[in-house]
Amino acid sequence: MNLRSGRLKGQMSREVADFTSSLEFDRRIFQADILTNRAHTTMLMEQGIISREIGEKIIGALVDLEKEGIDALELDTAVEDIHMAVENYVTKVIGPDAGFMHTAKSRNDQVATDLKIALKEEIQKIQKELLIFIEVIIEMAEENLDTMMVGYTHMQHAQPTTFAHHLLSYAQSLKRDYGRLQDAYHRMNLCPLGSAALTTTSFPINRERTAELLGFTGPMENSIDGVSSRDFIAETVFALTMLGTTLSKICEELIIWSTYEFRMVELTDEFSSTSSIMPQKKNPDVAEIIRGKTAVLNGELVTILTIMKSLPQSYNRDLQEVTPHLWNATDTLNSALKITMGMLSSAEFKGARGEELVRANFSAATELADLMVRDVGLPFRTAHQIVGRAVTVALDKGMKAEDIDAHFLDEISQELTGETLRIDDTVVKQALNPRDIINTRKVIGGPAPSMVQKVIDNLREFIEKIDPNDCRVE
Ligand code: ARG
Repeated sequence: MNLRSGRLKGQMSREVADFTSSLEFDRRIFQADILTNRAHTTMLMEQGIISREIGEKIIGALVDLEKEGIDALELDTAVEDIHMAVENYVTKVIGPDAGFMHTAKSRNDQVATDLKIALKEEIQKIQKELLIFIEVIIEMAEENLDTMMVGYTHMQHAQPTTFAHHLLSYAQSLKRDYGRLQDAYHRMNLCPLGSAALTTTSFPINRERTAELLGFTGPMENSIDGVSSRDFIAETVFALTMLGTTLSKICEELIIWSTYEFRMVELTDEFSSTSSIMPQKKNPDVAEIIRGKTAVLNGELVTILTIMKSLPQSYNRDLQEVTPHLWNATDTLNSALKITMGMLSSAEFKGARGEELVRANFSAATELADLMVRDVGLPFRTAHQIVGRAVTVALDKGMKAEDIDAHFLDEISQELTGETLRIDDTVVKQALNPRDIINTRKVIGGPAPSMVQKVIDNLREFIEKIDPNDCRVE
């Protein structure tokens, strides 16, 4: 059956047909297209719009096609897209009665429905993977509850924390990425089918029924919107881009932390490369490739938004050009997610180096100032000034944090404020001890192992509440 034979006399050149066909990326919606055709035909029969006999013949051919697979189709760009290829197949099997399948249906509502079906599945797959990743991080965190490291701001030593606390910051990002996907899933879960070309149909179709048969919560309530809208794609790709950003940041840290200067992490050989000229090199190529490839998601998001922004409402063929960018985004993300998980979970975190760095460079300074507020009653700003000066003097004299004592602080305070502090020396030492600092930060979100354990419990509870069958929180 040639789509062009009625209205048009001329044929497209091969070049134009190849250029305008969506067949190549329509492979992704082959299964979904069979489902929508089956649901639509079932509904047409139930409503008495087509006869049972014809409906059953159509469905029989669709079942055969599903068994035979996509290779049974004639995938020539002259047939334009998968919807025509499927209709041609049914025509080949049952003859011209196949044409009844297209009653009250357009490729415009069908492609939107197919895309939603395929994308919903893809989202659930990614969500499942995300939950596994969060679990992997939880296990790593539990092994490192007491493993100290220095926390950074501006990439400068800031305050003592633990590897567990840091790793769980990734888990919280991933949990939000999960939530964004869940929101997108929930919002797209209304069915465009029955919108037809743009204004529905005068046939007495039952849109609730097709929505139900296809696993949607109901039909979309405006048929022009039904064929026009691709915000569900833009929204999902944004969620994936944000997730890609999370992965890229994890990789960035693995790259930095595995340098000789940091030496806080060692990647396994499986996730490293070497140099063709420098025999000593162990390079974090895999992390670098993920950092690079996740940029593809940013590009795809911008491309999709740019295609959408210039279109008037209703169906315009430009919409077809959105979909290859969607699948490129999901494919890139799927690989990046799996590989980042493997790389992070196999990496070795260097506890001894973490401890060395946490003591090396005055990361206890904030706690020392806090001590002056607590024990001496100084305003924080004054305490900040005294400790800041103490660090400068200590650095000038080549002293380490552990060399700072009550007497030294008194000298600085005397000079700056005219008064001594008279803090007990053991209290000063305690304030300078990173382990004590970590243990006392037990407010919500802090690095104290007891608080980190509580957050782990919350994360576990979040995961347990999710129905593993559909990966959505009830
Ligand atoms: N291949 C098209 C797409 O992906 C299907 C809809 C075509 N509709 C049309 N009126 N030409 O958007």
